[in-house]
Amino acid sequence: MNHRILELYSGIGGMHCAWKHSCLPGSVVAAVDINTVANEVYRHNFPETNLMTRNIQSIKPEELKKLNMNRLPKDFDEPFALSEIIEDSVPDKHLVPDKLLKRANIFDVCYKDSRRSCCFTKAYTHYVEGTGSVFTDASPDTVDKCYKQANTHEVGSTEFVVALKEVRLRFFTPKEVSLLMAFPKDYDFPKNISTKQCYRLLGNSVNVKVISELLKILVT
Ligand SMILES: C[S@@+](CC[C@H](N)C(=O)[O-])C[C@H]1O[C@@H](n2cnc3c(N)ncnc32)[C@H](O)[C@@H]1O
Repeated sequence: MNHRILELYSGIGGMHCAWKHSCLPGSVVAAVDINTVANEVYRHNFPETNLMTRNIQSIKPEELKKLNMNRLPKDFDEPFALSEIIEDSVPDKHLVPDKLLKRANIFDVCYKDSRRSCCFTKAYTHYVEGTGSVFTDASPDTVDKCYKQANTHEVGSTEFVVALKEVRLRFFTPKEVSLLMAFPKDYDFPKNISTKQCYRLLGNSVNVKVISELLKILVT
């Protein structure tokens, strides 16, 4: 069956990527989202899709019938090492700022050899608790020593922060987050979308690999 899909609440197209990734027959022929920034990113990546900037509540059943849609409602690859997706020469603007380093004891730190990270939410880089992992080029041993040194001072004090600076903890870039969420390598954000907007949109999106596996179960 050649599926014709209507992607509701399409955001930046995580479900669209997942559909493509699933290699199931058919395509996303129309998408609807109310957010103009998300839609700009969507259009940049999927210019062929009929994308409607609308409140879905305004869509009448007759319109859906005309689009002639199907409704959309195993084997996982080995997890890859983060070294495969880490960018070279990431600018210092991605370093964790001092005001957030004060809370470094609750960071989830990832390394080049890590094969996991926390889930990234739309508050990533603004709040530290449960919003996503941070990265360092330093080794786990070095980071461990640094944390031990920092924790000889009062947590959150200037000395605590200074001790941690040595390992240059940084946020994952939007590109890296998109790759961690299994978006394709050529998935791209338009240049005028700010870094903050990218994080917010990604935090609202889905893991492409997970959804594509779920789609295969749902559709086959
Ligand atoms: C959790 S996000 C879904 C993200 C999407 N799966 C992706 O990969 O980016 C929910 C989306 O629904 C959109 N939305 C919320 N209420 C809406 C409405 N009434 N009509 C159209 N879009 C709406 C938001 O703008 C947001 O982009």
